[in-house]
Parts: sequence; structure tokens; C-alpha cells
Amino acid sequence: MTLAGRHILLVIAGGIAAYKCLDLIRRLRERGAQVRCVLTKAGSHFVTPMALAALSEQPVFEDLFALTDDFGMSHIRASRESDLLVVAPATANLIAKMAHGLADDLASTLLLASDKPILLAPAMNVVMWNHPATQANLAILRNRGVFQVGPGTGEMACGEEGAGRLAEVPLILDAIATALGGGGPLTGRRALVTSGPTFEPIDPVRYIGNRSSGKQGHAIAAALSRLGASVTLVSGPAALPDPAGVQVVKVETAVEMLAACQTALPADVAVCAAAVADWRVATPAAQKTKKSAGGAPPVFEMTLNPDILATLAEAGPGRPKLVIGFAAETQDLIDHARAKLVRKGCDLIVANDVSAATGTFGGDANQVHLVGADGVETWPSLSKTEVAGRLADRIAALLGERD
Ligand code: C5P
Repeated sequence: MTLAGRHILLVIAGGIAAYKCLDLIRRLRERGAQVRCVLTKAGSHFVTPMALAALSEQPVFEDLFALTDDFGMSHIRASRESDLLVVAPATANLIAKMAHGLADDLASTLLLASDKPILLAPAMNVVMWNHPATQANLAILRNRGVFQVGPGTGEMACGEEGAGRLAEVPLILDAIATALGGGGPLTGRRALVTSGPTFEPIDPVRYIGNRSSGKQGHAIAAALSRLGASVTLVSGPAALPDPAGVQVVKVETAVEMLAACQTALPADVAVCAAAVADWRVATPAAQKTKKSAGGAPPVFEMTLNPDILATLAEAGPGRPKLVIGFAAETQDLIDHARAKLVRKGCDLIVANDVSAATGTFGGDANQVHLVGADGVETWPSLSKTEVAGRLADRIAALLGERD
């Protein structure tokens, strides 16, 4: 990926993850980009202007009213001269200011004065990240077309564990390339993809799951991203690397998957490739269920899970223009797929035979039929990557027709 001749304005807010910006600047410059840094007051507690200036070989801007900075009063010029504004780390505070149009320092003023694409790489404590205020602010920004990469999940500098880590630098680089637009037919489109199985807890150590590997869903997310879409992949537990340039949200249960999908909206296209459990144990036990003395097996009361595909396909202003489902069947494939198309209210069903003999579950090949209102199209046996590539091309064509 070359970024030769591209101008990036990097806004560094106050968080321990700010140190990763030093590496980000180096990697951007290796790819030919020019990087100018804006450092917030809080950010300057974590990285020095000297380090940023040395790596970017550009002056660093910190003060809205500084007479020494060659910006003068020209915040507008600073953003006009950039192809993309990247906020990394984006703190809860700066995200809140952006969502509500506050401009009380150079960074927030530049962001408000900009008509250029903006990419946020949030980083914060897990409780701040999960707070409804932060999530609502991000939803406002997403609705305005702001791009987002991460945060990742794992151990954090504050010692807590969970979502809130700054996305790794290679992921931020991929997201920058996507936000700048590779010129693909899905540039400027947003896509939501579900993938993998769901795990429904029985008690703290046991769950009900299924054999989905997530290979097909992950390949679709990657293919849509390659065509320029800004992709959110909501994935159940899958032993697969995160696809490059894709925003990945990891969940376990169907209820969590639905919530994550709704948070990721709006989208132009939703592709539901996840193998979602139809039922869950109504009340998972708080402690591990022990074998009873008489050896009688436990009986679990089950309850229906939400149907994510059907929910996303419901008519309304927030419905993606294109909603695509999968039908994994072991018999009467096409009949079941036709019935599913109507029952779920989606635009297209990708039907595949998952009988053990086909090796589809967990395997690398897939033979699918595209079932739509106007008929059935049968594709030859292809690799899951090829199926994903063809499907992404078809999505681009269908969205083009619907404009
Ligand atoms: O009803 P069935 O599970 O056969 O439908 C499969 C399709 O519906 C897939 O696209 C799957 O991702 C989606 N689905 C869903 N939520 C469910 C069940 C299935 O999104 N609870």
C-alpha cells in the first residue's frame, strides 16, 4: 500500500497509547505520506512535541492562539491541506467534544473546521469505552460518516481487561488506506458482516456452540474491504486472524451479536454469514452445574434467540439497502432457501449444502447458490475466498443499481 503524496493530519489526544503514534508516524512516512501532528495538552503528557517533530520532520501544532506556530489562525488551512484527519488515540473526551461540536482547543477546532474524512482510533479504559455516553457519541459520529478503527480487546495499561486498547498500527494503516479510498467500487459504502458461531452459556464453564469456522464470513468482510467499503465484522468465537482493514467486534452470544450489529448501523449492506444459535439456555447457572447424586442428567429450559438477519431486514429508515443471509442446509437446499428469503425479508440468500460429505463446515471450499426474488444462480465449487470476491462484486453491482 503506497500513500505517496497523501497528507495526513494526525491528532494525538491524551492517553497512554499515544506512544504508539511514534511508530504510526514512521510507518506512514515509509509509505510516502506527509504527516503533520497536532498534540492536545493532555497528549503532551504522554509524548513530546520534540519526538513528533523529529519523526514527522514537520512542526508540531499545540496551541490555538500561538503566534509562533506558522499556522497563524489558519485552522481551516491545516485541514484543507490534508487528505485525511486521523485521531489516534481518540479519547472519550475528544470523541464527546467532536460529537457535540465543541471547539475549545486547537485539536477540537481543527476537527470542527474540517470537511475532510476523519478516522478515529479510540483508546480508553474499558468502563469509559462501554459507557452509554461514549457509545452514543460514537454512534453520532458514525452517522456523520466518521471512520473508526478499533479499539482492540485485551489487557490495558490501567491493569483492567477488555475493549479499549488502541488498534494495532498495521490495522490503523489499513483503515487509513480504506478511508482515503482505494478507488474501489464500494468506496464510501459501509458494510456489516456477521461471522462465526455463537456460544450460548449453560453455566460459567459450559456452552452450546456449533461447528462454524467463520472462514466464509471473514473472507466476505475482507473482500468488501478490498473493494473500498468501510467494514464492521461482528464475529462470534473464531480462531481466525482479524481481516486487514476491517473493524472487528468480538462477541459470544446471539444477544451480544444483535446488539453489536445494531451499534454498527447505519450500513449500506449487511451480510449475515454467522451460524447463530437458534436457542439459548433461558437462565444459565451462576455456578458450575454438578452431577447429581443419583446421576440424573440436568434438564435445561431453552428460550428463542433473536433472529439477527430478520431484525436487520425489517423495513424502516435504518434498513441497509441490501440485506443478505445464508442458508446452511443438509437437505432440500433451494426450497429451504426460498422459504428463508421470504420469512426473513432479506434481498438475497446464499445457500450452501453443509452435509458432512461436502466438507463445507471448517473447510476451504464452498459451492453456493444465490437465491433471490428473481431466481436461482448456481456457482461452481470455489474457494471461500473466491466466493467472497464474487459476492462482493455482486454487492457492488446491486448497490450501484439501487442508487
Ligand atoms: O434460520 P436459519 O438459522 O437457517 O437462517 C440462517 C440465516 O439467518 C443466516 O444468514 C444466519 O446468519 C441468520 N441468522 C441470524 N440470527 C439467528 C439465526 C440465523 O442472523 N438467530
